Amino acid sequence: MKGIVFSEFIELVEEKFGLEILDTIIEESDLPSQGAYTQIGTYDHKELLVLLDKLSAHSGIDTAELSRTFGEHLLKRFAELYPQFFADVGNCFDLLKTIDTKVHQEVQQLYPEAELPSFDNMMVDDDTMQLIYQSSRPFSALAYGLISGSASYFGETINIQMNDQSDDGNSFVVFTLKKRG
Ligand code: HEM
Repeated sequence: MKGIVFSEFIELVEEKFGLEILDTIIEESDLPSQGAYTQIGTYDHKELLVLLDKLSAHSGIDTAELSRTFGEHLLKRFAELYPQFFADVGNCFDLLKTIDTKVHQEVQQLYPEAELPSFDNMMVDDDTMQLIYQSSRPFSALAYGLISGSASYFGETINIQMNDQSDDGNSFVVFTLKKRG
């Protein structure tokens, strides 16, 4: 997983939980990288899972909630760092439709070593979209946060339902997104 994801996580932990907790979780996680990430480096995605576990143990907040909060933060940072993906889309659903066909495709071209999930989308009606997340990694809660972050970015209220269909250790989750108001 690209270092940008890790460095944003480290920044968020420092900002929300402080330097002491950050140092403690890095030390306890006993990471191959020792918690020193550069934006363009590539690291084992399991490091993020270990860091989330340790942060959960210290904060008493479950890992799914921490992942969702992180996803929301990450979306804001992606909007700052990669404004080109936001320039031509006017709402949350339109952004989500471009993740597979444009955003992650370009990320893959830029960083061939990136391991991206797939997102199929289907409109159920004008206000309802289904987004199907498939990945060999367990980041559906992060996806949830990125989706709710996308809604906030466009000032929209979207109800998100998550239906986990995974049965073989891979992630297979159907998100049903309903526009409100
Ligand atoms: C719009 C700007 C976005 C950019 C620039 C972007 C870029 C990236 C990058 C660089 C990674 C790390 C992949 C790796 O290094 O292995 C990643 C992973 C991921 N992205 Fe995006 N992304 C964006 C939006 C989104 C949105 C809106 C969603 C949710 C629908 C999403 C879902 C994910 C998930 C869940 C992962 C974790 C990897 C996995 O699940 O297998 N991304 N993305």
